[in-house]
Amino acid sequence: MNIIVAKNAGFCFGVRRAVEAVYKQLERPGKVYTYGPIIHNPQVVEELKAKGVVIAEDLEHIEEGTIIIRSHGVPPHVYRLMKDKGLQVVDVTCPYVKRVHNLVSKYHSKGYQIVIVGEKEHPEVMGINGWCDNSAFVINDPEQVESLPHMAKACVVAQTTTSHQKWDAIVERLHSKVDQLEVFNTICNTTAVRQAEAEAIAKMVDVMLVIGGKNSSNTRKLYSICKAHCKKTFAIETAKDIEVNAIDPGDKVGITAGASTPDWIIKEVIDMVSQLNDEKTGSTLNGQRQDDTRISRGQAVQQEMQN
Ligand code: F3S
Repeated sequence: MNIIVAKNAGFCFGVRRAVEAVYKQLERPGKVYTYGPIIHNPQVVEELKAKGVVIAEDLEHIEEGTIIIRSHGVPPHVYRLMKDKGLQVVDVTCPYVKRVHNLVSKYHSKGYQIVIVGEKEHPEVMGINGWCDNSAFVINDPEQVESLPHMAKACVVAQTTTSHQKWDAIVERLHSKVDQLEVFNTICNTTAVRQAEAEAIAKMVDVMLVIGGKNSSNTRKLYSICKAHCKKTFAIETAKDIEVNAIDPGDKVGITAGASTPDWIIKEVIDMVSQLNDEKTGSTLNGQRQDDTRISRGQAVQQEMQN
């Protein structure tokens, strides 16, 4: 069996930084809140809850303690509210998201209409929209551009996890709607690399496993990219979700994971796939693997991406 694991599977820089900040804060005295779940991964969130972290969906009942702003960022009124309440704020908004806030704020104050390419209800997009007083047009499909009015000047930015294909298609159409269009491709490079790598692996394998929280938007995007190239693509949250009958002995299996999937879950999935293969081929002897399961991380993918 051949297992190919994406080199860029799992925590991105912004998510790792956010999760580490919560653990660090837990070592200090006082109550620790996160403003919304720290990441879109139920297993990590549950682990933190068990350690005493409280998820605050709003600030109404919080009077003291430390509140952590997650990597998705928040609109300006939330900062003001936290300050007014005298809360200690740990802000781990990803710097790439912060850059989008700054761009939106700057161009909104110059009188530009803001257009955000992304999912309207996603916390990152709601946060960005707050930096232009919630006046942005949020577009998630090239078709939606047709419904926009004609604009003299506009500034377009992207939710950091948008796919390049969607971004290119929307920006191309926007040019016909706007006289003066300022274009800022704010898609995070980590996302672009992860998606390209997932696509390359999906083209090479018989079965593709995409690991991540069901509520994780970047994981859902990875799934749809992989599904387009590998019919047997499965979205799973943990090793327990693997469909045992979907993997045949000798299959080439690809594994990738969303930006909020911790390493330990990825490892459990790799181990489970190897174990399933052992069981199906009867290749375990005294608990030792006897077959030639090969697990590669990244190398084969780079080759494929160069072709
Ligand atoms: Fe930041 Fe990119 Fe991750 S925007 S949170 S490093 S996906």
